[in-house]
Amino acid sequence: MNRSPKILVFDSGLGGLTVFRALAAQRPDADYVYAADDLGFPYGPKAEDEVTALVLAAMERLIADRAPDCVVIACNTASTLVLPHLRSRWPEIPFVGTVPAIKPAAEASQSRLISVLATPGTVARDYTRDLIGKFAGHCEVTLVGSQKLAGLAEAYMQGESVADGDVTAEIAPCFVGHDGRHTDSVVLACTHYPLLLDSFKRLAPWSVRWIDPAPAIARRADHVLSERFPFHEIRDAGFDFIFTSGAAPEPRLLKTLDVLRRSVARAARPRASA
Ligand code: DGL
Repeated sequence: MNRSPKILVFDSGLGGLTVFRALAAQRPDADYVYAADDLGFPYGPKAEDEVTALVLAAMERLIADRAPDCVVIACNTASTLVLPHLRSRWPEIPFVGTVPAIKPAAEASQSRLISVLATPGTVARDYTRDLIGKFAGHCEVTLVGSQKLAGLAEAYMQGESVADGDVTAEIAPCFVGHDGRHTDSVVLACTHYPLLLDSFKRLAPWSVRWIDPAPAIARRADHVLSERFPFHEIRDAGFDFIFTSGAAPEPRLLKTLDVLRRSVARAARPRASA
């Protein structure tokens, strides 16, 4: 097809920007629509039925209005629940999800002590338990359901200051040590958390591998698109930002979004057409 693909990136809030960043580096030729369900945020503490209903309702509007070629659900809390519903409602659209990166964490761990830092919803999902059973049987896995981190990441992105003590309290349960072994890998299983990664690294009691699945998700999206949309020449990719409430982003957030877009454009490397 002789045009660029349109990719809809969806999250409950601004966390999906960490996935957008990787997507835009992988496919700088694509047009992007980023949608944040600020009306539904936070998804983490909500009941499963409620999250499913929120995502399906938002998708009905977004898909009808924007006609994307691919949808990336840049939210673990939603992806661990709604992907089968979305795929059966829109069988013609490829949906790429974001699920806890337990497999790479278990493969990389030397100490066989790994932690999954996620929302309370994601740590409670059958999906997450199944991933652990399938890929991390040889590891001791600590599930940490954070009540506050997604909200702290939102505040940070809006330009507010985030207290070190609040972050430390949320990440502390990830660090487990016994019998001379220590946690060496922590899965960032909420797309909001890489926004606070510098603080995590600075405040961690010891150094660990922080596993962010964004580059793998971007490669997956590229793969599902590449047949219909071979890599196109790089140009100024479109970027639209939508809050489901209809609110306009605050000036400080607009500035952050602009910086993010520019850094992505700078990082983009031309590559040969597929
Ligand atoms: N960014 C979302 C995730 O990856 C969750 C944030 C929320 O609680 O809404 O799980």
